[in-house]
Amino acid sequence: MSETPAPADDPRPMRAVRHVMSVVGARPNFMKTAPVIAALARRPDPVRHTLVHTGQHYDAAMSRVFLDELRVGEPNHMLDVGSGRHGAQTARVMERIEPILERERPDVLLVPGDVNSTVAAALVASKLDIPVAHIEAGLRSYDRSMPEEINRILTDQISSLLFTHSPEARRNLLREGVAGDRIHAIGNTMIDTLVAMRGRIRGLDAAAAHGLTPGAYLVVTLHRPALVDGPLLGAAVAALDGVAAEIPVVFPIHPRTASAMERRGLAFSAPGMRLIEPLGYLEFLSLLETAAGALTDSGGIQEEATYLGIPCFTLRSTTERPVTVELGTNTLLGLEPARIRELPGLLGEHAGRADIPGWDGHAAERIADVVVGAPVEASA
Ligand code: UD1
Repeated sequence: MSETPAPADDPRPMRAVRHVMSVVGARPNFMKTAPVIAALARRPDPVRHTLVHTGQHYDAAMSRVFLDELRVGEPNHMLDVGSGRHGAQTARVMERIEPILERERPDVLLVPGDVNSTVAAALVASKLDIPVAHIEAGLRSYDRSMPEEINRILTDQISSLLFTHSPEARRNLLREGVAGDRIHAIGNTMIDTLVAMRGRIRGLDAAAAHGLTPGAYLVVTLHRPALVDGPLLGAAVAALDGVAAEIPVVFPIHPRTASAMERRGLAFSAPGMRLIEPLGYLEFLSLLETAAGALTDSGGIQEEATYLGIPCFTLRSTTERPVTVELGTNTLLGLEPARIRELPGLLGEHAGRADIPGWDGHAAERIADVVVGAPVEASA
């Protein structure tokens, strides 16, 4: 590791970046990290990259398919932490990543998003004096009952480099006391993946494969604990059944939602409901691209729908992605399953797609420029 002098007013050592380590764990992480790995590999200056997969998601449909489709390659380290309660899952990531970080000593640890794997890895690295770079920093729902909100706040506080994809993210970070020079508005790496894969997505025509007519069906994803693990799930299933009687609905069901429905003996009965296994990235985006609309509680799908100009209805009372509401096609329905019944009537009410600065297919290159182009402080 080569050392360069620190600025006179900054006692922290600076180091040139030769080895970047990324951590992924859960489904939404793969799309955010894949383009950064590719951008680092394209650089003329040699940068070593190593990938850690925590194993937070482990089913083939939740993990393998994304690694393959996005050509991420085999992880260098697989932690196999699996499922568990928040404390146990977070602790397992911390315990298992620590010896790897100590042995490999990357110059920067890149963590995307807001899942338990993100905060666990960031916490261990920051205590080992390994600078953390957070992709998708500064998002806030201002709802601390969401586990992801805790993960976001903590990860941002201990990150040396904060990569943001929308203006309010910078404002949120400044409000929390993060120094402005750590914040880099680089854009949206998840949209990089969408831009890079657009040709393959278009070529798939998943709607036809599922017997659906483009523009005449709804895509649904619901998996948040606030809906799925509480008393609202039954009402959501009943309301969706009502919608599926009017317009075909395709619902690739998350394992958390599937097991909650089974536990409570809930089932769909409308013939228009196509309940299917979780889909890979390409097939899901292909279905989304030609849908009449999407109903979701996911964060990423709000952004993907905005980019594609597909009306999105979010079954939550808050969003950490307000730019999708202000500039895009997203409508917050509230955490009110009864409102699902309004959907067929709401579908026509949206403007087309919005161009959001930095959602342009080049965010990962900008991250690589910042990470490799400038030495980073050795600690936050
Ligand atoms: C996690 C993230 C969430 C993200 C979501 C995307 C946290 C706190 N939550 O939620 O932010 O939106 O991933 O999917 O990190 N399961 C399987 N197979 C798998 C993975 C999970 O069956 O490969 C089942 C298990 O029963 C598990 C449950 O899903 O207990 C929940 O998995 P977990 O990773 O804890 O949370 P998610 O709901 O997936």
